[in-house]
Amino acid sequence: STNQIPRDEGMDNSLALLKEGYLFINNRVEKFQSDIFETRLMGQKVICMRGKEAAELFYDVDKFQRKWAIPNRIQETLLGKRGVQTLDGKQHLIRKHLFMSLMTPPHQKQLAEQIAEYWEREKKQWERKEKIILFEEAKKVLCKVACSWAGVPLLELEADSRADDFISMVYAFGTIGPEHWKGRIARNRIEEWIEEIIENVRSGEIKAEQDSALYKMAFYKEADGQHFSTHLAAVELINVIRPIVAIATYITFSALALYEHPDQKEKLKNGTREDLERFIHEVRRYYPFGPFVGARVKKTFHWKNVEFKKGTLVFLDIYGTNRDPRIWEHPNQFDPDRFQDWDGDLYEFIPHGGGDPAKGHRCPGEGITVEIMKATLDFLINKVDYAVPNQDLSYRLDRIPTLPKSGFVIRLS
Ligand code: HEM
Repeated sequence: STNQIPRDEGMDNSLALLKEGYLFINNRVEKFQSDIFETRLMGQKVICMRGKEAAELFYDVDKFQRKWAIPNRIQETLLGKRGVQTLDGKQHLIRKHLFMSLMTPPHQKQLAEQIAEYWEREKKQWERKEKIILFEEAKKVLCKVACSWAGVPLLELEADSRADDFISMVYAFGTIGPEHWKGRIARNRIEEWIEEIIENVRSGEIKAEQDSALYKMAFYKEADGQHFSTHLAAVELINVIRPIVAIATYITFSALALYEHPDQKEKLKNGTREDLERFIHEVRRYYPFGPFVGARVKKTFHWKNVEFKKGTLVFLDIYGTNRDPRIWEHPNQFDPDRFQDWDGDLYEFIPHGGGDPAKGHRCPGEGITVEIMKATLDFLINKVDYAVPNQDLSYRLDRIPTLPKSGFVIRLS
């Protein structure tokens, strides 16, 4: 027999999703007292789920596909077209291997060393600045480091505007109207820029190191022996650079966490690498960034007596799973120590998605994210003395993605 799945009222709840933001799925999970419910969004039926078991189901590649799962508006802004996020099966595994090969521990270390260097360099400018907004500084530093590491030439003069464009692509995610269009314009501009660079690398006009992301994307050969189209090479290279720039969001939330928990900051001053990592995990668990991920049912199946009909869109709640009280004691408290005895389960802690990144769609950049955050926290804790003047540090949960309103203003002391 098929169970009646709790159903959200209303013809379409897209407006509620916009209004409730990160809390949309969790609010209904609590109201229905059910990990799984049905709603209508963007004119179609959507099954929403949260929790560890739901994550295990969602990352079963025999049950779900990504083809047709990503709305055009997201491809036109955040992700681009035909990139790794849209692939399934063997094609996805092969493409994913290319990404994984660019994000190994040695790559993570290179990036961490570069970011430490760039922060020191940037700090020298700060004495002359009236106002230092950490988010603004971070996105610029990350854009310079990401481009330099990827082998993409970036003029000092253009760093600010390129960083702004990468951020606009990310922050267009949950928006309509002007913010959405800003994201589209940014993507078009960045794609045009990177396409030209790909062409120049292929013609030999620009030199690229053989193990750089630029070289790999320009000269990678698919199974048929063909290179990527110029456009696809650009889309995939942007899939490496853009998310590094987006770490600016986590850096800003890290600074907020240090400010809200001065005891933690003291502890980290003399702390071990593990202390730092637990703090970084907790920042990624506690603060909102990725809201949910979507996929379509590949072929009809039943789970917990609920029918998942072929083609149905399914959302897995990232924010809610990271605060699921069955997994996390006192989920709404910031407590890095909760990671003390953590067993590294692949489906409970899912800021970057769930499962094994080499086998499914989980983010390949988690190691890079952690190492960049680690180097930056070391800088913020041990290399620069700053005060935090009065400002509006609140962040909205009805904006996806979100950020402390002030961007985190600091003053050198
Ligand atoms: C995919 C989160 C940083 C590259 C994803 C996904 C999430 C995510 C939720 C989707 C998982 C899924 O579809 O099931 C994050 C967060 C980051 C971050 C919160 C922190 C800023 C990075 C970095 C890189 C990166 C630094 C690369 C340098 C990618 C790529 C995918 C991806 C290529 C697509 C993987 C696939 O479809 O197989 N990320 N990510 N991400 N991320 Fe990240």
